Formats: sequence, C-alpha cells, structure tokens
Amino acid sequence: MSNTFVINGFGGQRKLHGVVKVTGAKNAALKAIAAAVLFRDTVTFTNIPEINDTLRMFDLLKDMGAEVSKTKHGTYAVSLHPDFATELSPGIARRMRASIVLTGPVLARYGKVSFPHPGGCVIGARPLDLFVDGFEKMGARVYIKDGSYIVEAKGGLNGAKFFLKNQSVTVTETFMMAGVLARGITTIKNAAMEPEIAHLAGFLNECGANISGAGTPTITIKGGKLLTGKGRVYKTMPDRIEAGSFLILGALAARELHITNCEPAHLESPIEALRSAGIPIEVKKTEIIVRAPSKIMPIDIKTHEYPGFPTDLQAPMTVLLTQADGESTVFETIFEGRLNYAESLSSMGASITMMDPHRALVRGKTELRGRKLESPDLRAGLAFVIAAIVAKGESVIHNVDTTIDRGYEDIENRLRAIGVGIERVKVLPEVSSMEQTT
Ligand code: EPU
Repeated sequence: MSNTFVINGFGGQRKLHGVVKVTGAKNAALKAIAAAVLFRDTVTFTNIPEINDTLRMFDLLKDMGAEVSKTKHGTYAVSLHPDFATELSPGIARRMRASIVLTGPVLARYGKVSFPHPGGCVIGARPLDLFVDGFEKMGARVYIKDGSYIVEAKGGLNGAKFFLKNQSVTVTETFMMAGVLARGITTIKNAAMEPEIAHLAGFLNECGANISGAGTPTITIKGGKLLTGKGRVYKTMPDRIEAGSFLILGALAARELHITNCEPAHLESPIEALRSAGIPIEVKKTEIIVRAPSKIMPIDIKTHEYPGFPTDLQAPMTVLLTQADGESTVFETIFEGRLNYAESLSSMGASITMMDPHRALVRGKTELRGRKLESPDLRAGLAFVIAAIVAKGESVIHNVDTTIDRGYEDIENRLRAIGVGIERVKVLPEVSSMEQTT
C-alpha cells in the first residue's frame, strides 16, 4: 500500500488562517546524527523531526552497531558499541543521499569506510568527485569493489587544505567532521555557508571540537580527540525550508498566517523576494506573519548557495508565480533536474515555458485545477500540495511516503489545523514509485 493525499482546493479563495509551528530542520538533524560517530560517549539529540529521513539515518547507525534510544518525541540518545562496523548498509544508503555525510566521521575514527553510490538522480547528476578527492587529500586510498566505494586510511587521516570547486553543503559537512579527528589542521576554502553548517560546528565545539569560520567561506578545523556528549544536549535548529514553504503558502491562500518557532534571519532572501512580489510580511523574533496581498507581482528568481535564494524553495516559489500578474522567470542554478515538476504544474493549468533545463518562464495569473500528481522529489512534493490547495477542485498526490513524508513531519495534521481540506488515503500503488534522495 502507498500513501496518497487527497486535497480539496480553495479555487483561489483565501481560507487559511491561524498558527503553524515549524519543526526541527531535516538537513541539520541528519548531519548531527552522523556526528554521533565522533563521540566517545552518549550524545543526546532533541527537536529531531520525526520523518523518514532522520529515522533512516538512525537505522544506518543501528545497523553499524550503535545503540539508539528514543526517550520522547524527537529526543534520541546514541552511543556506539566497541565493535562498530565501517560498512554503510547498502539497502539504506542507496535510498538516501545524505547518508554520505557519515563517511567523514567513520573514516576519521576507524580508518575505513565503505558505502554504495548513494541515492538516485532525481534532481540532477549529484556527483561524488569532491568526496573522493577529499578522502585522497586527507591520505586515504579509494577504490571500488563489487559496486561499493572502499576508503582506507590505515594510520588515520591527516589534516588537508581544500578548495571546493562547488560550494557543496554535504562535502563541507563531511570534511569538517573528518577534520575533527584528523591529525593537524584542515582548511576548507569556498566552503558552503548554509546555516546548518554553522549550527553543526557550534554543537561540535561545545563538545570539544576546535572549528572556526563555519558559516563563512573558509573553515579551519584543528584535529583533536573524540568528543564528549556529557552535560550537552543537541537541539535541532528550526527548518528554514519548511518555514519558507509555509510563508509561500500563506502568501497564496491565507488571510493571515502566523509561522512560529522559526529563525527569520535564515530566511532573508525568500522574505526579500516575497516582499518584492508585493506580499505583506511582518517579522518578529521567532515568528513571521504573512498577510493577503492586494495582488501578487511577477518577479525573477535565481537560486543560489546561501545566503541566496534556496534551491529547496524554488518549486513552491514557482507555484506562487503562477498566481502573479505578469511574466516571471525562474533560474535554477544548482541542480539541473529541479524543474522536472513543471510539466505537472502545467497540467494543472499553469503557463510555464522551459527555456532550457535550468530556466523557466512563468506567465500569470492562471487558474489552477485539481489533478492527479506524482512528485519527482521532496520539495516539489510540497509545492504540489501548495498548488493543490490553491487549485479549484480535488487533487490526488501519489507516493506521499517516498516523497513528502521524507521531509515534513505530520504535515497533513498541521495543514488541517490552519484550514486545509487534506486527507491521507492508503491505496494500492497506481503509479511507479521513484527512488528519492535528499
Ligand atoms: N557537487 C559536486 N561534486 C560533489 C558533490 C556535489 O560537483 O562531489 C555539486 C553538485 O553537483 C551541485 C552542488 O555541488 O551542483 C551542490 O550540491 P551539494 O552537494 O551541496 O548538495 P547536497 O549537499 O547533496 C544539500 C541538501 C539539499 C540542498 C542542497 C543545496 C542535505 C542533506 N541536502 O545537498 O537538500 O538542495 O544542499 O542547498 O543537506 C533537500 O533537502 O530536499 C535537498 C535536496
């Protein structure tokens, strides 16, 4: 059985109102969980979003020989057995791109790690060259055997100097964590600057690491001893992508929506874009209030590494632009497959012309109609939910368990609480389920 959402659209009316609370950030929690391998004792995680991806990351650790205990909702304690294995379960790792971040801590601590090519290719090529280069720079040998990457550094890792040709989030995090247990100094230049990276570094420093510059383009890590979780608790930062998606939903369908438990400072670029589209937004300390605009103006969006406009909000933003009065352009600069949802949105009535795989022209305002949809990836999945809420009539969104459930906790109940007509229905798979990666 697979899970389907059935959504009754508002047909363009503004029926949403109330308060929606943001959960812990998936892309922060996944890396923090992987960092448990850097600890000599138990480490406690709180505000972990209860989603398929974080549960899979815990499963990976358990499969390798970690004890994972859940004490309450979103709170987990992790400790490693002395005979912790160095092979990432191919069954799990192949389904989750983010599994790659475990390779840094495992290699740094045990001198060996093996893993399959992670995940599929639903949003683009997503190569591993920077990982392989990085392992080799730190003194490891990398080879492929029976379809798995084997990485060995018999005497442990040496600190190294990196200049990343692309500002990759997971590459930065992987080598920042590897550097914590490497001999000497590791320097990462042209590092990614996403707030999840500084958040991870902050926690690791509290536990004994020596990382400086996280959140800037140059990160320096002084290698040292195993970390300790004694007296420390990791609290996952708020999910900026979830908050940004609620902002866009509010801009489209709410009279007034309060988005709480968020960090507005992490959303400057989306807030700026929405304001230039004419959306009234009020920013408080940990809350953002979005109100109905008199009309939505067309704008040009270009995705960029942080602090630019996030690729993970590009699909929801395109839904908003279908309701703007005039022509907008969307330029996806990070992943070439991240406009794959455009055809489905067009089937709902949107006017989207693909200029090339990275660029789309959106003509608004168009009336959207309910349709049967299957999302190509997680973020497009929530964009379809937003489009279905705006549309006239009923939409059915398939394969919720392999797309939306990976990244958004209890999303249907939170949406129902602010006025969305949404039901989860279990059905026999009608449409082929695609492999999804983070
Ligand atoms: N890249 C390389 N070589 C590599 C690795 C990456 O050239 O070895 C390139 C990619 O081809 C791409 C760029 O670097 O052009 C960025 O890719 P990156 O590696 O940064 O992506 P990622 O780290 O795998 C993370 C998030 C994504 C988010 C991107 C961009 C996690 C687990 N994933 O991916 O989130 O879109 O950064 O911000 O943190 C999602 O949550 O749905 C998601 C896809």
